[in-house]
Amino acid sequence: MAVISLSPDRSRGNINRNIYGHFSEHLGRCIYQGLFVGKDSPIPQVRGIRSDVVEALKKIHAPVLRWPGGCFADEYHWQDGIGPQESRKRMVNTNWGGVVEDNSFGTHEFMDLCEQVGCEPYFSANVGSGTVREMAEWIEYCNSDGDSSVVRVRRENGRENAWGVKYWGIGNESWGCGGNMRAEYYADVYRRYQTFCRTYGKNRPFRIASGSSGLDYHWTEVLMREAAGCMDGISVHYYTVCGDSWEKKGSATDFTREDYYKTLKKAWRMEEIISHHDAIMTRYDPEKRVGLVVDEWGTWFDVEPGTNPGFLYQQNTMRDAMVAAITLNIFNEHCDRVIMANLAQTVNVLQAVILTEGEKMVLTPTYHVMDLYQAHQDARHVSSFVQTGTAGTEAWTVERITASASEKNGAVTVTAANLDEGSAEEIRITGVPARKARARMLAGDMRQKNDFDASPLSIQPLAVRVDENGDAFLTLPPCSVAEITLE
Ligand code: AHR
Repeated sequence: MAVISLSPDRSRGNINRNIYGHFSEHLGRCIYQGLFVGKDSPIPQVRGIRSDVVEALKKIHAPVLRWPGGCFADEYHWQDGIGPQESRKRMVNTNWGGVVEDNSFGTHEFMDLCEQVGCEPYFSANVGSGTVREMAEWIEYCNSDGDSSVVRVRRENGRENAWGVKYWGIGNESWGCGGNMRAEYYADVYRRYQTFCRTYGKNRPFRIASGSSGLDYHWTEVLMREAAGCMDGISVHYYTVCGDSWEKKGSATDFTREDYYKTLKKAWRMEEIISHHDAIMTRYDPEKRVGLVVDEWGTWFDVEPGTNPGFLYQQNTMRDAMVAAITLNIFNEHCDRVIMANLAQTVNVLQAVILTEGEKMVLTPTYHVMDLYQAHQDARHVSSFVQTGTAGTEAWTVERITASASEKNGAVTVTAANLDEGSAEEIRITGVPARKARARMLAGDMRQKNDFDASPLSIQPLAVRVDENGDAFLTLPPCSVAEITLE
């Protein structure tokens, strides 16, 4: 039996709802076909934005959406994506598949999408191939109500009042596709660009520096040393890749037990990555004013056979659900530093929560994990300690149970996953004298998935019993994720 001990009087603070955020890039079928089908599409839509996808994102209370990239962001010129859709400039998406980008989805369409979903926008500004002026005017276009030429254009394009976009990323992966800069050089570039992130009225931009590729701690060290005083957040990207190289990442669906545990073990590296970045940041920012923004995370497998290699379309199994469960618990545990995270990418790309094919839509196992975890959004973190055995193979071993907890409106929510793909685990939750408890779960074979012809995976009720001491008892089936609510 595994024991989850809760200490409600010990907390790392509030869990920012934006930890449950998403990322949508002009990549493959994420924007076009995934989120946006155009206003003449027979697929149910509002001003071109798919209604089924909007409804699904509303249901999990997607709090924030990052756009337009990714690597695409550093080649994106926002002025090409405003004005009448039919006369917008066309470009070739050199990063992703060499397809034509007609810019029919631009700033107004993205803001419309965010308003329909009810989430905050997070813009990634072009630093790699864009000018300071271009970025500054994008902020002005979105956030100013002054009578400037830039604002007049916005009004001519149908938007009277400023949207008030808060989150601004200053470049993306500036060490790589965003310009191949050295940390020392980018620190100065960052200082310059952020100077022109002007405040209009109450709309002060929250400036997020382009961060490291997970294991590059030097990048974070230099950025914090040189620019911590003029940033609000710094990002970090980490993808869980099962294979040993980017050329052979392995199949998303056809994998062995060995691959399963290897993937989970690699997902656990997020713990080390966040702890190390936090330790560096704390040397320069002991008050934890600067937030860590994990604005790209998730699994990255080989594309589905027969699909465009530049579109990064992969299926999603219970293995992905386990990666999500591990990672979100880690974020909760680091909520004093991690203020936002954005799963890559919302629809049809990498570890998507939603897949579409024509008018059909599938909710992936990862979607259901986001659903099970949503009570943590803006809740007060509760410290927990898990006593558990291990699961795995000789080469790849993981803790069998992962968990985190929070408290909101008098109820304590525990999210826990049984990573063992072969055996169930009994759980005792202690430390909060509960009067009653209820639970929901997602469970299945490690290779199980939802697809367009059949979606066997959905959230099911899970039996939970409370004893006379207020401890809760339940059994987590093999390869399962659960939300347990204690009152
Ligand atoms: O999410 C896919 C790509 O991964 C992004 O465009 C880039 O930022 C990262 O390397």
